Amino acid sequence: MEIVIVPDAAAGGELIASAIADLLTRKPDAMLGVATGSTPLPIYRALEAKVKAGSLDVSRARVCQLDEYVGLPVGHPESYREVLLREVLQPLGIPGERFIGPDGAAEDIAGAATAYDQELAAAGGVDLQLLGIGTDGHIGFNEPCSSLASRTRIKTLTEQTRVDNARFFDSLDEVPHHVLTQGIGTILEARHLVLLATGEAKAEAVAQTVEGPLSALVPASALQLHPHATVVVDEAAAARLKLADYFRATYAAKPSWQSI
Ligand code: F6R
Repeated sequence: MEIVIVPDAAAGGELIASAIADLLTRKPDAMLGVATGSTPLPIYRALEAKVKAGSLDVSRARVCQLDEYVGLPVGHPESYREVLLREVLQPLGIPGERFIGPDGAAEDIAGAATAYDQELAAAGGVDLQLLGIGTDGHIGFNEPCSSLASRTRIKTLTEQTRVDNARFFDSLDEVPHHVLTQGIGTILEARHLVLLATGEAKAEAVAQTVEGPLSALVPASALQLHPHATVVVDEAAAARLKLADYFRATYAAKPSWQSI
């Protein structure tokens, strides 16, 4: 794993947006896996600025969703499809036809999960998957003790995650209990994983992910199994890393031509 410590969330967003721009230069029809929540917003705003400045061409880029609430009606403003249309697709000018995701409103949820894994495979897989991290160490919505080999499936959110996400709803009662999420095995198939974590609330989960043992209790520790995983953290989220100075020195010594 490569660990990059940046001064703040905006710098993390800029760095990751630049890596995405490099990818789209090499592969204009790359499949970008996007996450929701607050953390990736600086990435999306940095991408939007590049598109508006004419330095990023997304005319062939494809986008896929990491996870989705189960049971929200189609078009609900907090369904992750709607959030991503609002925060990513529309600002970047990417049409909905180039966007795929799991159907959290399906009658047959198990079938929708399997269908999504098949759709991802048929699309040629994910080139770069953006990830946030939960305070409990989840990636996607693979809560603690998720199988490290899991595929897209329904999961029950922990109370902690529902409380963390209640800020997007009028009350805690409105936060769904279930989600469809790419499994850890599905996520590990992406060719490049890029996790962004910001703020001190994530410091313990980041330390466990990067320096702790591979453990089902910390689903993000599965990134240790991936040959190309980049973890970008701001100073606050890096606060509990024992090897922070080593990570800073390693990144500073990186050749300038090498993107994350
Ligand atoms: C969202 C997702 C989650 C979030 C995580 C952190 O699609 O997959 O894993 O990335 O819950 O959320 P924020 O960024 O809001 O702290």
